[in-house]
Amino acid sequence: MRLFHTHPHQRVSFLAPLLLPTLVISTPTTIFTLPGTLPNSWFENLAVRPNGKILATRGDAPEIWQIDPVTSTGALLVSVSGAYNLTGITQVNFSPGGGPPHTRPLETYIFSSSHIPAPLVVTPGSAKVWKLTFSFPSGSPAVSLLAAMPSAGFLNGATAWGENAVLLSDTEAEAVYLLNATTGNYTTPLTGLPGINGIRTAGGYLYRANHLALTLSRIPIAAGTAAPTGPEEVLVRGQLIDDFAVRGGKVYLASMYENSVVEAVLATGIKRLVQGDLTGTGVGLCTVVVEDRGALFAAVGQGGAAGGSARIVRIDPE
Ligand SMILES: *[C@@H]1O[C@H](CO)[C@@H](O)[C@H](O)[C@H]1NC(C)=O
Ligand SMILES: *[C@@H]1O[C@H](CO)[C@@H](O)[C@H](O)[C@H]1NC(C)=O
Ligand SMILES: *[C@@H]1O[C@H](CO)[C@@H](O)[C@H](O)[C@H]1NC(C)=O
Repeated sequence: MRLFHTHPHQRVSFLAPLLLPTLVISTPTTIFTLPGTLPNSWFENLAVRPNGKILATRGDAPEIWQIDPVTSTGALLVSVSGAYNLTGITQVNFSPGGGPPHTRPLETYIFSSSHIPAPLVVTPGSAKVWKLTFSFPSGSPAVSLLAAMPSAGFLNGATAWGENAVLLSDTEAEAVYLLNATTGNYTTPLTGLPGINGIRTAGGYLYRANHLALTLSRIPIAAGTAAPTGPEEVLVRGQLIDDFAVRGGKVYLASMYENSVVEAVLATGIKRLVQGDLTGTGVGLCTVVVEDRGALFAAVGQGGAAGGSARIVRIDPE
């Protein structure tokens, strides 16, 4: 997520040049660019469907786009009436159960929205959580409001937790909510998390970016309730991070205004630049990296007039 918190001065230090060892680099392949000339456009978050297609939430419009990395094509999937700016999106993990496909739960995603009238400004009370389902067998998408969350500050990251529940990070409240994907009821299992931005779960841990401390850390959390069961442990330091992918013992980090993707080894915290200058214009905003079937996909936008509209790039790190 771009920064909406109250520390704009920190953006300056984020622009310090990276002096990281570099992986063998291939130029990122652009697989999709929003049509038109939209130099201020940006995607906030991505989710990869089981069929390999990518769902991308737009931060500058209430829209979800669907991109096919195989054909490098994309199209508007849904416009969300009643929302302004979309943020996190995650698939809900239903228990697979048995039986034929039509008896199983629909392929379902939870995503959040806030009203972000201008950079660094969030309208209080505007947070909402939505559900996107694909009907069976037609596959047509449908969006419904799951919960208004007027007491939330700024809903940012989203990640599945257990069956039919998701964790949502609130950057302003410095908290994480656990939301029931059927009822929209939620609890607040984690608080006191300054700078919280992107979140992911893996191996019983909540991994979280801290864009104020420039760290990635993890907290062990309980099955079901997501209550912390141990202290927060910092794994990566000195890195501006938005959303990220955890793959094996590594993380792939979207570096926001550093306009790059950075790899870090969790056991050592050692970082390497996977791909710099994603926009090719020297400026840009990389908001999220996801991994699917061995490839990384990153969202990049705000590349200035020369950088054009928000796009999705594919990076093969090895
Ligand atoms: C938020 O969305 C509105 C349209 O719904 C757009 O005008 C505005 O620029 C967006 N904010 C940002 C920071 O992109
Ligand atoms: C969600 O709420 C429903 C209705 O109260 C309940 O049956 C279900 O167990 C809840 N799911 C989770 C993950 O809490
Ligand atoms: C859960 O949500 C339902 C539907 O909004 C509501 O009727 C119910 O009171 C909620 N339960 C709790 C425990 O908050």
